[in-house]
Amino acid sequence: MSSRDHWKSKLGFILAAVGSAVGLGNIWKFPYVVGKNGGSAFIFIYLACVILVGIPILVVEIYIGKKSQLNPVGAFRFFQKGKLPFSLIGYAGVLCGIIILSYYSVITGWICHYLMLSFRGFSGTETEISEIFTDLNATPWLNIAWHTFVMVTVVAIIAKGVRNGIERVSKILMPLLGILLLMLVCYAVTLSGMKDAWHFLTYPDFSKVTPGSFLEALGTSFFTLSLGMGAMITYGSYLKGNVNITKSAVQIASVDTLIAFLSGLVIFPIVFSNGLEPSAGPGLIFKTLPVLFSKMPGGHIVSVAFFALVLFAAITSAISLIEVAVSFVVDEYKVSRMKALVIMGTVIWLLGILSAVSSWNVAGTSFLDLFDKIASCYMLPLGGLCTALVFGWAISNEQKKSEIGSSAFSTALLFAAKYISPVLLLLVFLKEIGLF
Ligand code: PHE
Repeated sequence: MSSRDHWKSKLGFILAAVGSAVGLGNIWKFPYVVGKNGGSAFIFIYLACVILVGIPILVVEIYIGKKSQLNPVGAFRFFQKGKLPFSLIGYAGVLCGIIILSYYSVITGWICHYLMLSFRGFSGTETEISEIFTDLNATPWLNIAWHTFVMVTVVAIIAKGVRNGIERVSKILMPLLGILLLMLVCYAVTLSGMKDAWHFLTYPDFSKVTPGSFLEALGTSFFTLSLGMGAMITYGSYLKGNVNITKSAVQIASVDTLIAFLSGLVIFPIVFSNGLEPSAGPGLIFKTLPVLFSKMPGGHIVSVAFFALVLFAAITSAISLIEVAVSFVVDEYKVSRMKALVIMGTVIWLLGILSAVSSWNVAGTSFLDLFDKIASCYMLPLGGLCTALVFGWAISNEQKKSEIGSSAFSTALLFAAKYISPVLLLLVFLKEIGLF
């Protein structure tokens, strides 16, 4: 175990964890989910979910990883009590990471394609521009080529290890992402739609909130914080020494939420300035925005900055998804990191081909949608629920307090993790499987 790679600095860990958290979930999913659910009222619910469930579970995952110094499967086995096979939670997490990355890599491939097109600039009529997306989807070899490119890039980064690969890349890409985002916010502030966007994002209209909004808020917060499948357990396992877990979790969740909000602040002014509906759905960044980029002054540069930003965010998340599976193979089967990477990279690449060929489907649902549904609607909340239960009921208070501390804030977090989070997660899960 002494040969385990560790983060070089606390900042490195925070940036890598933020890199995992900030991804397509923040920039692509969050704005359209907010748009669909009526704006700021949804943001309030989302914030409540982050505070009551997201941060407590984030603390729990980092704790489980740091304490055990193992991959998710080994970590849950480490806390084994009684006869229930805790390690199954870890296996489900590894599988979930493999499933998510298989389609995440395909979507990241689309971003690469749009970034390349941005360098030339978008031009043509609205229909022509939105057809780019339809054409891309109808060209399997192109999708497979981009998917391959993304997988090779991700594998090449993490082949260098935790400290020299993940930490180094996060330290470069995360500040770059911050700069690009701030530049885009400054640009968005100058647009005529900024006033409407600000109003939309900050003036709550609770009449648009439905019971489904609560579930969507919890699901989205879980996905964007990379919870429920062991990514934060894995990153926590590369921590050693004295680290304030609660403080780290609050920092990671705050930056993640801020970036999601700022992404909305970039996207909505563009949408409102052009008189469009904010609820355009998943096609928002691939169909709507490029049309707007083609029309606005300086749109060429803005689109390059925008797609580069999304690409950086997606790559650092993809890294954390594959790292879960790689750390599992390395720890459990004692093989070299390189060998584990080749095996897992190939498995995920092959699985991703199902999502890359959009004409393949199961009963009319594409593999991409199917995998997203299975992973983010069922596996993540269920994984989070099991993690909270193990932490709340199988680990002694003394053990927890030695790492998490006994300040009033830590005690409140431990209470939330034991009682509030599992109940809310159970409700989401039961609703998802249609039990009420
Ligand atoms: N948090 C990432 C995003 O917002 C996705 C992700 C989910 C990454 C689960 C790792 C684990 O895009």
